[in-house]
Amino acid sequence: MDGIRVRPARPEDREGILAISQRIWEGEDYVPGVLDAWLSEGGLLVAELAAEVVGFAKTTELSPGELWLEGLRVHPDHQGKGVAKALAHAQLEQALARKPRTIRLATVEANAASLHIARELGFQEVARFFYLEADVENRACPSSLRPPSLEEAWAFLRASPALAEAKGLAGIGWRFRPLTQAVLRELRENGALLALGSPPQGLLLLAPDPYTPREIAALVFVDGDEGVLPELLSGAHAWAASRGQKILAAMVAAPWIFTFLTRHGFQFAPELGAVLVLEYVGSTAR
Ligand SMILES: CC(C)(COP(=O)(O)OP(=O)(O)OC[C@H]1O[C@@H](n2cnc3c(N)ncnc32)[C@H](O)[C@@H]1OP(=O)(O)O)[C@@H](O)C(=O)NCCC(=O)NCCS
Repeated sequence: MDGIRVRPARPEDREGILAISQRIWEGEDYVPGVLDAWLSEGGLLVAELAAEVVGFAKTTELSPGELWLEGLRVHPDHQGKGVAKALAHAQLEQALARKPRTIRLATVEANAASLHIARELGFQEVARFFYLEADVENRACPSSLRPPSLEEAWAFLRASPALAEAKGLAGIGWRFRPLTQAVLRELRENGALLALGSPPQGLLLLAPDPYTPREIAALVFVDGDEGVLPELLSGAHAWAASRGQKILAAMVAAPWIFTFLTRHGFQFAPELGAVLVLEYVGSTAR
């Protein structure tokens, strides 16, 4: 890690950060859309090599004590030099100093370098999902769907095999959180909570994607009897269409929901492999 210096990002790093982001995933990176918010809220670190910004990483507090590590990027010309390791190490040290309840991150199976770094730092896999997406269709919301009470929704979730398969976590886009009652309330306020039947035979949770809220609707959770899933999916399309969003994106752990969605227009990118959620469990290696 010789010569690598990690420090908090400053507003004047903006151009350097954007220059890196433009070279990641053929310019499809979400970071330009969130960078101003990241610079103002704090938690953004940059790595310098010979006084040039060559990488960055963000820590976000999703709720008090619930830390989420995201946005780890290294300029392609400087990959393989230990820059990501230095950033991830500094990020973890800072996170631990805050005495958090949890520190989590997500990466895809295909991202061997990221997985290697996380595991070496003491992170362990807690759940795995598949990322699926579909073009939003301009459908009407089925009249059978209604907002359930929080109690009804919570009772449904506690008994849901799909949530058990996801180890109790929900993917709100690429951010994963335990689906607690507090998160359920947040999602109902900022997104949508819909059910079919009373008591519910099926439940649907939607939210704007945290990184690309105008374009992508996150299908956070769907589960129910086989007969009600198509109506719930129509509700998801209708919600996204009414907001002018173009893509419905789902993080799915349950194989039967995966099969249902892929039979109803959702695509899976096999080259990414599974999306792994990792949690810091401590390390003796550090
Ligand atoms: C992933 C990324 C951040 C890594 O940055 P980097 O600066 O090249 O990483 P480092 O040089 O610090 O460390 C890479 C480590 O992964 C290891 N590694 C690299 N490829 C590997 C592979 N295919 N299998 C196993 N380990 C691998 C390296 O050997 C090294 O570990 P070591 O020092 O113990 O040998 C960088 O490639 C990147 O920005 N990619 C695009 C964005 C991205 O994928 N971000 C992560 C999103 S979760």
